[in-house]
Amino acid sequence: MNDAFDRLTIAERASLTSGSSMWRTQAIDRAGIPSITLSDGPHGLRRQPDGADHLGVGHSLPATCFPPAVALGSSWDPGLVQRVGSALGVEARSMDVQVLLGPGINIKRSPLCGRNFEYLSEDPHLSGVLGAALVEGIQSEGVGACPKHFAVNNQETDRLRVSVEVDERTLREIYLPAFEHVVTSAEPWLVMCAYNRVNGVYASQHRWLLTEVLREEWGFAGVVVSDWGAVSDRVEALRAGLDLEMPTSGGATDGQLVAAVQDGTLDPALLDQAARRVVHLAGRAVIGGAFDAGDHHRLAREVAAQCAVLLKNDGVLPLDRDGSIAVVGELARTPRYQGAGSSQIVPTRLDDALSELRALAGRDLPFAPGYPLDGDRSAPGLVKEARGIARNADTTVVFLGLPAGAESEGYDRTGLDLPPGQVDLLRAVAETGTRVVVVLSNGGVVQVAEWDHLAAAVLEGWLLGQAGGGALADVLFGVVNPSGRLAETIPLRLADTPSYLNFPGDPGSVRYGEGVFVGYRYHDAVGGPVSYPFGHGLSYTEFGYAHLEADVTGDDERLRAEVSVRITNLGERPGQEVVQLYVSAPSQVVRRPEHELRGFRKVALDPGQSATVRFELGWRDFAYFHPVRRSWTVEPGTAVIHVGGSSRDIRQSLLVKLDITPVRERVTPDSPLEEWVAVPGGLEVLLREMRPPAETGLARSRFLTDGSLRTMGSVPLRRLARFPGAYLDPDRLDELAAEVNAKAQP
Ligand code: GLC
Repeated sequence: MNDAFDRLTIAERASLTSGSSMWRTQAIDRAGIPSITLSDGPHGLRRQPDGADHLGVGHSLPATCFPPAVALGSSWDPGLVQRVGSALGVEARSMDVQVLLGPGINIKRSPLCGRNFEYLSEDPHLSGVLGAALVEGIQSEGVGACPKHFAVNNQETDRLRVSVEVDERTLREIYLPAFEHVVTSAEPWLVMCAYNRVNGVYASQHRWLLTEVLREEWGFAGVVVSDWGAVSDRVEALRAGLDLEMPTSGGATDGQLVAAVQDGTLDPALLDQAARRVVHLAGRAVIGGAFDAGDHHRLAREVAAQCAVLLKNDGVLPLDRDGSIAVVGELARTPRYQGAGSSQIVPTRLDDALSELRALAGRDLPFAPGYPLDGDRSAPGLVKEARGIARNADTTVVFLGLPAGAESEGYDRTGLDLPPGQVDLLRAVAETGTRVVVVLSNGGVVQVAEWDHLAAAVLEGWLLGQAGGGALADVLFGVVNPSGRLAETIPLRLADTPSYLNFPGDPGSVRYGEGVFVGYRYHDAVGGPVSYPFGHGLSYTEFGYAHLEADVTGDDERLRAEVSVRITNLGERPGQEVVQLYVSAPSQVVRRPEHELRGFRKVALDPGQSATVRFELGWRDFAYFHPVRRSWTVEPGTAVIHVGGSSRDIRQSLLVKLDITPVRERVTPDSPLEEWVAVPGGLEVLLREMRPPAETGLARSRFLTDGSLRTMGSVPLRRLARFPGAYLDPDRLDELAAEVNAKAQP
């Protein structure tokens, strides 16, 4: 290919770095360079045979609609998620698609984000591990994966223009780690850059992001592709490290590249580098194959059942198939199973919970729609009808959730409430005295505090894909023991969320003022109540934790901690526990979250069975990103390792000593007085140098008395030297700094 590439004209090379259509790259037949097709995901193939669009408006070929990321994120099961990735890869190949545009791994900064259904979690570790599993699955089938949207695309409002104002520590600790983990562990063939600006610079032309971090730090060797229409300045984007503009610009921006090379403002080597990456990508993909829609549907049902999260259960679940049961809610009959926008696909089939419940019960369970999906509240007759069947049932399963228009790519939500008519219905049904089981269908978190006391059980079904109806029936009747866990906090109120005052921001920009305190990191830092915490989820059995042990070895970056804990199924049913490991690590320099998720394992146990679950922690698991040194930092001291069933169900904790060499701050003439004094030997040097003349009768400069040290501590020494009474020679400061630093270095 090299010789053929060398014979390409500049115009041909430029054409390779842009699409030839909405979904295809440019072929150059005379050089044997094929065109490839990129297609959405992330939870199913949106293969458009014609009349393309990038927002799911047009028709696409039927494909398996697996549970969207909001559900997969709740599975906490990398192995299961990888199987979904493999199935997606098989379906992509069967439809002649060489790149699947997913997974979406942006952090859920606010529950209001209209596209949260397409993202995995509020936590970067969980997002990274599950995102990598999806990429590995997809690429195991010879199809490229494309984690997106790099970076800080955490809202839909003004997404093609808004500037996200975010400090580097927050980027490094919250918004980049999932991409870092996916890139360094799963090696995706592509990464998609986001629409938005980051601190004023478009992500599509952000050199620090696309080249310095992504390639030079993380070693990414694939293709950086733009989100569709995300390129503002094509030449600047290529310089910054963007290899492929999508969709086609019809050649317009190709011409800009050619002109820039010809007028000497663009280094042709950068164009060649991008073009060669696209050529390499085009040669990687495997073509062809078929998939069995029945097998994939069964997989979708198995996966969906592992994603549902049992929030509350007083024992009413699992239901007895022969019990007196009624079903209420149009969402039982007309399921919401995916989100709207570019990820919206045409399923190969669609199960509804009502039919599946009736199939498992072996009879026609009474049903009433209870509310119209369009939310019209002038339908009291529906409520009356629902009350009628609930009154005659021991248990009524009430399906509630967000209508399709409430959340979508392209716009954000303004509140967390369920449609009012649904809550009215729930109250009306509960008043009949029937035991109520609520089943939720929603892509983004809904507030439950107002009504969940009316329910004996609440099952969070999120959006579960085309087989979600069957999966919910399996969980409700106990065919499957629920094992989903919350991948995001359910707050009591929207106003309790950390980004509440900064979402979606002001015209043109949004400040990430909460810093690293996103999701549970915020709620646990302020100790505020939540409806249900990150990591929460019930089972039809109970699990015991014992014998937490940690073997800590090594110092500094060689620090390792081998952690183990024994888990036992204490109940009567087989079940799966998600053992979560959180670390509380010390700092005297920055404010850190109370604890952070650093490991998890989903373990299946039969009644009475025990297993030892093991974790390997490294130096980075105790680190924060130092905002001034701009480096990962672990401070000496004592950390705590916690294990439990959620961020607020900690079962065992253990102190571990961190054998870390303290990093001595080096002083300069512009360091403040307090930093000079903090260095061992620093005060002695200053007392020697800042000696008042004998006639003053002073033993030391008044700036070095205890009181002054506090009030004047923030004054840089170079400026302090100008103060009368400092008695400090400004010309000696560099020499003094060298002396103090030499004393401090061991
Ligand atoms: C959309 C989305 C992106 C999708 C692309 C192609 O606007 O932001 O996730 O892959 O365009 O449809």
